[in-house]
Amino acid sequence: MTVLVTGGAGYIGSHMVWELLDAGESVVVLDRLSTGFEWAVAPEAKLVVGDVADKELVGSIIRENKVDAIIHFAGSIVVPESVADPLAYYENNTSKTRTLIETAVREGVPHFIFSSTAAVYGGAGLEPVREDARLAPESPYGLSKLMSEWMLRDAGLAHDIRYTALRYFNVAGADPRGRTGQSTPGATHLIKVACETALGKRPFMQVFGTDYPTPDGTCMRDYIHVSDLAAAHRLALQRLRAGGQSLVANCGYSHGYSVLEVIDSVRRAFGRDFEVKMGDRRPGDAAAVVANSDLARAELGWTPQRDDLDQIVADALAWERILTSKNSARG
Ligand code: UFG
Repeated sequence: MTVLVTGGAGYIGSHMVWELLDAGESVVVLDRLSTGFEWAVAPEAKLVVGDVADKELVGSIIRENKVDAIIHFAGSIVVPESVADPLAYYENNTSKTRTLIETAVREGVPHFIFSSTAAVYGGAGLEPVREDARLAPESPYGLSKLMSEWMLRDAGLAHDIRYTALRYFNVAGADPRGRTGQSTPGATHLIKVACETALGKRPFMQVFGTDYPTPDGTCMRDYIHVSDLAAAHRLALQRLRAGGQSLVANCGYSHGYSVLEVIDSVRRAFGRDFEVKMGDRRPGDAAAVVANSDLARAELGWTPQRDDLDQIVADALAWERILTSKNSARG
């Protein structure tokens, strides 16, 4: 049995590949390498460069490798980009996922794990959000993922395929062993931006808004270590293989940190100060987005191992340093 990981050369996907290999699984990666990197794929995994919507290619990968599960990460993930070019997001995230599900059903792949997002909920409050909260995506990105969840639900009712959709909150950090991390240039995510600033890759960074209705006036998010997220997928795979029913579950730690708290943690990890400017609100940001993760803990038996902001930041900073030396070695 082999696990097909789409987007396995990307940030979360490359951690998933290591998680599976460490657990003794056989892994094949399908990635277009549009934002991912060949070097990010663990050498023990087989890499196929191609598109998830290429039915023939995916069909032959499934047959040749006896794939019994697909973990689908491939997709576009930048919220403002989805507002500027919604049709590209509906194509890349929704339409291609539809084709991939169709191929999975046709080839008789019984298990499908899907990378969904907290963005399906729209603006949340300080209270942790449960899976049965109102679904109201505020961006084409969030809607493109929600439509994929719905296609999986309906395909699961009509065909012999069971799925788990994990709704990620703010994924951050890097492999604690330094094997992979977030590497795509032009990052917008807070922890990566702060680490880049600390290391002098940016002259300064900005805090987007200081007048939110939160304790220190800056936005709060539920930052989850990418290794804990990968572990949740591995447990979801085990559960499906053991006959578990389809499931949609949040992945977060159930508590939030403010932008200022995150920046302080990066200062502590770096040991020196760097320039931070207070700026205006970024359009579309909710004041707070925090997961209720009771369901993932109960259903998957998921017990996070790295629920510690300083550790997330230390791993992200360590990876940023590794990336600097990789890039300078490449010239
Ligand atoms: N922020 C700053 N300065 C920066 C970057 C971010 O102040 O330079 C702030 C943002 O305004 C926000 C917080 O840091 O308040 C977190 O921002 P990120 O860009 O790191 O993450 P988001 O919460 O905007 O987005 C994340 C995922 C999305 C997902 C969304 C769901 O990256 O893919 O959560 O809630 F859709």
